[in-house]
Amino acid sequence: MNSAIEGFYKLGVKERNAKLREYGLTTEECAVYTNGLDLETANHMIENVVGIHALPLGIATNFKVNDRDLLIPMAIEEPSVVAAASKAAKIARASGGFKAEATDPVMIGQIQIIGAAKDAEKKIMAAKDGLLEKANALDPMLVKFGGGAKEIECRLLETERGEMLIVHLLVNCGDAMGANAVNTMSEAIAPDLEALSGGRVRLRIISNLAVHRRAKASAIFPKTEIGEDAVEGILDAYAFAKADPYRCATNNKGVMNGADAVTIATGNDWRAVEAGAHYWATRNNAVEPLCKYWKTESGDLAGEIELPLAVATVGGATKTHPNAAVSRKLLGVKTARELAEIIASVGLAQNFAALLALSTEGIQRGHMRLHAKNLAVMAGAKGDEIDRVAEHFAKGGERVTMESVKAALEKVRRG
Ligand code: MEV
Repeated sequence: MNSAIEGFYKLGVKERNAKLREYGLTTEECAVYTNGLDLETANHMIENVVGIHALPLGIATNFKVNDRDLLIPMAIEEPSVVAAASKAAKIARASGGFKAEATDPVMIGQIQIIGAAKDAEKKIMAAKDGLLEKANALDPMLVKFGGGAKEIECRLLETERGEMLIVHLLVNCGDAMGANAVNTMSEAIAPDLEALSGGRVRLRIISNLAVHRRAKASAIFPKTEIGEDAVEGILDAYAFAKADPYRCATNNKGVMNGADAVTIATGNDWRAVEAGAHYWATRNNAVEPLCKYWKTESGDLAGEIELPLAVATVGGATKTHPNAAVSRKLLGVKTARELAEIIASVGLAQNFAALLALSTEGIQRGHMRLHAKNLAVMAGAKGDEIDRVAEHFAKGGERVTMESVKAALEKVRRG
């Protein structure tokens, strides 16, 4: 399959769905995408349900990750994001696309102990095997597939309320996000930790700083595609973000535009992903860009992203939200690891696209062009008419509204 679908944006919603069927989705799966979550299911997901809050779901084209062509489902309310990701993926595609990898899906459960005895750490570490066994007895399925509690670590923490002993339970969560498994295991071993430490256990909860569960992606953006000035412009933008927290926050927000949209489309906990990513960006005591850029010997732009990505292909809303299964099928992912690799690639694509636009023509012109195209499609423009309506607004000056777009379309039709 080839994800470089020419003119996908020019199609109507029905025609785009027809394309998805060519790419392997069934009519029923496309119907799931168009209908979304039903009220009955929603009522079982959270409390006090009164309705459904929907988001647009778009498809980013042109992606190639680890030599696999992919159509990327993105759920997001912000215009331009899907188009920008598709554009970046087209540029990266010219040099083979994104290469991505992810570490083992290991999450940390934290158990806070107040008033632990001096020899508490020694006693806990001596009892480690029994504690891990007890934790693992709670999730035999996870253990059967190679996951489960793997390690225990102790940290002494100085706080404003005195010294605390923090025990970390390291759990390989397999294809789950892991909050349930980790929290259950952490709560289960807490009484033993109290007995061993002679202290009092307070918090028993997963850490969203998933430092062990990271994904990396990289790509070469050829100078032949973007021009030498854009290579320099993006390096200038990167230097700006490195030097300035005000810019860096916005830069990283742009990364998360892409990462979150795929996280949401696959039914995952985007707050967990956000929390991990933004804290990761400050791990060296100052906020840093999530993506790095440098110039290769041949003058092309190399980009790389690394961030914690606790996403799942099983459990939680990945199971209950009907769209999630369709998104996984479209992406062809079976494991949480593969999904994390794709999300990292989209994060890099999104940041690259933003920096390319910002360091050259600015984002507003493209934004308006896209807005005009979207409105033109809604106004009934077909084929070439869409681009011609967008051209009409390209010089700026005229406000892009449904009315002005309809008038422009009439003009185009009159020739
Ligand atoms: C807007 O949602 C995201 C950007 O501001 C990101 C950036 O400035 O790098 C365009």
